[in-house]
Amino acid sequence: MQVFAHRGASGDNPENTLIAIERAIQFDADGIEIDVQLADDQVMVFHDRWLHRTTNGIGRLRDASFEQLRQLKTHGDQQIPTLLEVLDCIRGRCQLNVELKHKEVAGPTLNALDFAVEQLGFAPEQLIVSSFHHRLLSELRYNWPQYNYAGLTASVPLDLAEFAQRIGCSAVHMDVANLDDDLIKDAHRRGLQVRVYTVDEVDDVIALQAQGVDGIFSNYPSRAIAALKPKEPSGEKATHGSGVST
Ligand code: G3P
Ligand code: MG
Repeated sequence: MQVFAHRGASGDNPENTLIAIERAIQFDADGIEIDVQLADDQVMVFHDRWLHRTTNGIGRLRDASFEQLRQLKTHGDQQIPTLLEVLDCIRGRCQLNVELKHKEVAGPTLNALDFAVEQLGFAPEQLIVSSFHHRLLSELRYNWPQYNYAGLTASVPLDLAEFAQRIGCSAVHMDVANLDDDLIKDAHRRGLQVRVYTVDEVDDVIALQAQGVDGIFSNYPSRAIAALKPKEPSGEKATHGSGVST
């Protein structure tokens, strides 16, 4: 089961910042998930619509100029990065899942992914575009078929994973709160992977692996990776701790 760092290694670093990205790579995460939004014609890596939860700013992200956004500090004294800065930081060292938070950010984001493949050492297969906006994903896949797409859902749809297959996705990204065995089986039957967000508890990590989930998004990727390490053969004397790191 693969482990994606959710908003970077955001449990102990400011979410969606370069420091959280670099930390996730140090932890050897299989991939990193980030959120993107358009502000002042720039693709910014940021989750909320409003600035106040994660920065010293107020108001809506989309109402701020690029210069204003660059003046802001996140918790942990970081800048809000652009997508290009994140791509330049990762340079193909792991997979990247870019979650589109709205429709307007899609075109500039896909253009940035093209640049990442041409100039920054990414293979197209390493790039996963996801969104709750399924119609948007469908349009993007038509124009940029070389990337992986994942339909996000917090619910169990009537037709299970059919929506993702119709879009042409390679995966369904599902909320852990509503995870359903029928959805997992149906997705696999259609050749789709199932990745689950947001999974921070070790018991959940182990249970999801046993359920046959293909990947998880965790704010604490090092903890999840440690929980997945193969157990030492019985009878062999343990030389270290519980295997759970933070
Ligand atoms: O992409 C998985 C997850 O991040 C979706 O929800 O609100 O954390 O962006 P959210
Ligand atoms: Mg997200």
